[in-house]
Amino acid sequence: MSERRVLVCGAGLMGHGIAQAMAAAGHRVLLYEPDLARAEAGRARIGSNLERQVAKGKLDHAARGEQLARVTAIAALEQAAADVELVVEAVFEDEAVKAELFGTLDRAAPPSAVFASNTSSISITRLATATGAERRKRFVGMHFFSPVPVMPLIELIRGADTSDATEALVREIATELGKQVIVSRDRPGFIVNRILMPYLGEAMRAFEEGLGTAEDIDAGARLGLNHPMGPLALADFIGLDVCLHIMEVLHDGFGAPYMAPPPVLRQLVDAGYLGQKSGRGFYSYPRD
Ligand code: CAA
Repeated sequence: MSERRVLVCGAGLMGHGIAQAMAAAGHRVLLYEPDLARAEAGRARIGSNLERQVAKGKLDHAARGEQLARVTAIAALEQAAADVELVVEAVFEDEAVKAELFGTLDRAAPPSAVFASNTSSISITRLATATGAERRKRFVGMHFFSPVPVMPLIELIRGADTSDATEALVREIATELGKQVIVSRDRPGFIVNRILMPYLGEAMRAFEEGLGTAEDIDAGARLGLNHPMGPLALADFIGLDVCLHIMEVLHDGFGAPYMAPPPVLRQLVDAGYLGQKSGRGFYSYPRD
């Protein structure tokens, strides 16, 4: 397997996980944030994830060092993009921010580079219009799942102009990462969130109407359906602001009442209770 040069934009929850998975597959990764300290924090997070694997006896010290050495934290975008083969964008879900980033990258990256967005909800076809006609053939959705190093799926989304060669490259890289690909048309929520969000929303409505406690609703899914997490714990894990945003996109896109975000979700987000990352959501964290 050849070593690829990959630029990951965004070093948050998804970005650092994508960078870790790429480094584990033997690729060179540039991990970009406009603020170098944030890029370095993302890299440090990869270091501690790998350290956990060492402590569990799943990775040796030398391999940890090699994987981490393949990741470079950077803040100079144009310079970094100059000789990349693949860009994976995993920045905040804001269309204007992503469009500006892709416009800059289009000017800085070689014409052959493939641009992949990890967006969970924004149209790939629309995002691709931030780039020129040639790049649009090399523009694709590559949707990862959290925690990235663990979850075995990549959702591949073809925009209006995505070429067969681009799909083939993403499939090849997914195989290198040990992940399976599913292909979705470019519709709101793609495949997984189209299924997931109405389920999470219904669990929230059930909780809101007092059908059961949060613990019992979640135990119902874990023990009765064999899901690794119940829906309310999963929403906390994903981030309640993220869930709200995706539900809004689905509701705007399809207009179905069952896709509307439940009031309890809006209220928690308004209060700043965003789930695990803020210490409180449907549950308080750390949980005992
Ligand atoms: N980063 C990296 N690795 C992690 C991790 C993290 N944040 N959290 C857990 N892991 C690893 C552990 O190190 C462990 O690895 P090993 O098996 O190699 O030891 C493995 O995951 C299992 O972890 P634990 O034993 O500690 O805990 P667990 O068995 O309870 O599993 C879980 C944790 C993997 C998160 C599991 O509960 C799970 O699969 N939950 C559902 C996750 C899910 O649905 N994700 C998709 C969310 S939707 C999304 O991401 C996309 C979107 O657009 C909203």
